[in-house]
This record gives sequence, C-alpha cells and structure tokens, in this order.
Amino acid sequence: MDKLVVEGGVPLEGEVRISGSKNAALPLIASSLLASGRHCFFNTPRLRDIRTMQTLLRYMGAVLNSEEALHIDTSRIHRFEAPYQLVKTMRASVLVLGPMLARFGRARVSLPGGCAIGARPINLHLKALEQMGAEIKLDHGYVVARASRLHGASITFDQVTVTGTENIMMAACLAEGVTVLKNAAREPEVVALADYLIAMGARIAGAGTPEITILGVEELSPTSCTVIPDRIEAGTYLVAAGITGGHLKLNACRPDHLEAVIQKLTEAGLAINAEGDTIEVSRGSRICSVNAKTQPFPAFPTDMQAQFMALMSVGHGVSLISENIFENRFMHVLELRRMGADIELDGRTAVVRGVKRLSGAPVMATDLRASASLVLGALAAKGKTEISRIYHLDRGYESIETKLSAVGAKIERVKE
Ligand code: EPU
Repeated sequence: MDKLVVEGGVPLEGEVRISGSKNAALPLIASSLLASGRHCFFNTPRLRDIRTMQTLLRYMGAVLNSEEALHIDTSRIHRFEAPYQLVKTMRASVLVLGPMLARFGRARVSLPGGCAIGARPINLHLKALEQMGAEIKLDHGYVVARASRLHGASITFDQVTVTGTENIMMAACLAEGVTVLKNAAREPEVVALADYLIAMGARIAGAGTPEITILGVEELSPTSCTVIPDRIEAGTYLVAAGITGGHLKLNACRPDHLEAVIQKLTEAGLAINAEGDTIEVSRGSRICSVNAKTQPFPAFPTDMQAQFMALMSVGHGVSLISENIFENRFMHVLELRRMGADIELDGRTAVVRGVKRLSGAPVMATDLRASASLVLGALAAKGKTEISRIYHLDRGYESIETKLSAVGAKIERVKE
C-alpha cells in the first residue's frame, strides 16, 4: 500500500490543469449502455473509480479502449449484472441499473452496503423504477429488476439525489411516454449527462432545474462528448493555495460550477479572480473563520466540506460547519485533530476553533474527500505528515502528487 509523505510549509506557486470530472464521467460511461455502438468520451480522468466502471462495462460485454479518449463499444452486451465485487468498491456502479433495465428489460445489481460517509441507500432509485413499471425483487443481496418496457411516470424524489436523478433520467430516455422528475438534482454533472443523452437523440427538458421532463424515444445512437472539468478537484486546489498562503492559477476549469465555493473562500479571505476557464487564487493575510452548511447544488457542496474544514482549522476565530447531506461525513475530524486542529463535533455540526498552525503527524485516509483534507492540512503543517491508505485519494484525484509537486509542494509517494 502506498502512503504520501508531505513536508509542510511551502506556499504553492504556479499553474494547475484541472482534470475531467469523476462524477460526470461515471454516469456518462454508464449511459453508453443505452445505445448500441461506439461511444467516445474525451477528457476522461485517469482514476481508480473510472477504471472500476470500465471493468464493470467490460464484464458486461462492452469493448473498451482508452488512449487519447475513452472509446466504448456496447454492441455486444451479454451480461446484465453488476457483481458485488465491483459495487462494493464503488457505489456509483449502481448507475448501470437504469440504462440496463431500459435497454435490455432486465438487470441484476448488487446492493451497495454502508460506506464510510453514511448509510447511502438506493431506495429512491428503486421506488422510481417501480413507478415506471419495473418489477423489483431483492435476492441474496442483489436487486433483480425486470420490465418488458418501462413507462413514463411522475416521480417526486423525497430527497435530492444526484445518482438517483441520473439513473432515472437515463432509464426514462427509452421508456414509453413522458417522465417528469420533481425535486431533481441540479448538479452540473446531471446537466452534462442530459447533454450527452440529448446528443444521442433523447428528448429531455429542464436539466439543471428541480423539474426534468423526459419524453421516451425508441432508440438512441452513440456519439461523443468531452467530460466537464472536475469542480471538486478545482475547489481542492483553491484551498491548497489558500492554506499554504500561495498563488495558483487553475486552468481548464468552470468557475460557474464553483460559485458557492468561490464565495465562501472569498469570505474566508482568499483573493479569487475567475476569467474564462481559469481561476487565480492567492492569500494575503491570515484566513478568517466563516461558517458553512452543505446543501445540494447550487449551494456549498458536501464534497468540499472536509477540505474547507482543513482551511478553517487554521482560520482566525471559530467556524461552524454543518453537514446536511451525509450523516457520517466527519471521519477527517479525528485525523485533523491529530495534526493539532481544535475541532469539536456537535451532532451534524463541527465547531472549528482556528489554531495558528497545524503540526505534521502520521494520519490515515478514510474516504476520498477526507483524504484530500489531510493532504491540505499536511501542506500547511509544520514538519512532516505521513498519510496512509491513500488508495482513497487515487479514486478521485488524478496525479495529485505530480500536480502538487509541480507547484512547489514537498510531497512524495512511497511504498509502505
Ligand atoms: N439517499 C437516500 N436514498 C437514495 C439515494 C440517496 O436516502 O435512494 C440519500 C443519501 O443517503 C444521502 C442523500 O440522499 O444522504 C444524497 O445522496 P445522493 O444520492 O445525492 O449521493 P450519491 O448520488 O450517491 C453523489 C456523488 C457523491 C456526492 C453526492 C452528493 C457521484 C458518483 N457521487 O453521490 O460524490 O457526495 O452525490 O453531492 O456522483 C465523492 O465524489 O466523493 C462523492 C461521495
């Protein structure tokens, strides 16, 4: 197992190219199951989660080839199953359920178990598919779904769900009649998926609003698209510049996907200037403590909560950070405390009293974004931090140590 060794205290200076978005690429890859033939995705990030999704499609019979772009040929799908081995390593595997059921009328997908950040059930995906006429049974830990042809329905999600919205939007593209999704997720990744589905011939209106209307069609045709930039990776590098007191220019990003994050970081004292597809960020004086609450898009994202907490741990004052999406997404708190952060948990709120400086310590990564917060803490800390179990980080940050080293960080990957 690899670990990262970071010698903190270097202000980061230079330019970082933001990669394609993991959470946009995953549903795009799953959507290739909806149309027989050759799909092509440019700017797909090289990440462990993407490789897991590719393995799943290969298992199902797709032919994949990823050199400059990711090509997926879905003309010979012959297994309609997402096995436990793959779903347990990546919950987003459940995104194949809607497309498989819509195109092949059957699907067998392992139920994801709990995970480090919360229970994360898929009941809303299943309930919506049932409303569209699917027959769903649970069998030995698997969801077994059948439908000769799904039909349109009016579906109101009890809670905003990103992959739930994506799964049902994909299924509805080939269903008979009109499906209306209410209380739908508005995340940029949902809009990017809708754009690709529309390019394949789907009839979708309202993606990016809480109500999406889909008129089912008989067939879709494969085409190509470019994966949108990863807004969470960009947000993480903004914090990296701020926490080290450096100056970074982020290239190939979408500032309009980061408005709530940019607003919060500006309140915290960072100077941020977005122009076209670049964002420049620097910090003059000490960070100020500000409060944050995670909410679905366009509000402050849960996927930036841990990184923001690392920044607040060296803020001037007290910051209250509430996590409203996942019930257990505070695994980084104990590890940040090991680095000298003063954080107390009060239910779903973390009370962060800023300290002057963190100090390097051995810490352990527990989930993807928690790991990112430890890297950020380590970059600012006095002395050496060793972060173990960084396979979590490799799920979602492309070449993180190469990108950080290029802007001056003293960071090294070593084998444990
Ligand atoms: N929920 C249910 N039932 C469902 C679906 C969701 O109760 O059927 C609950 C969840 O337990 C959670 C809330 O609804 O409390 C929202 O979960 P959501 O379904 O939106 O999360 P997700 O689709 O599983 C995606 C991202 C996550 C990101 C969340 C929230 C992908 C592949 N994953 O997960 O990304 O945190 O939306 O924005 O898009 C990450 O990249 O680190 C990551 C965890």
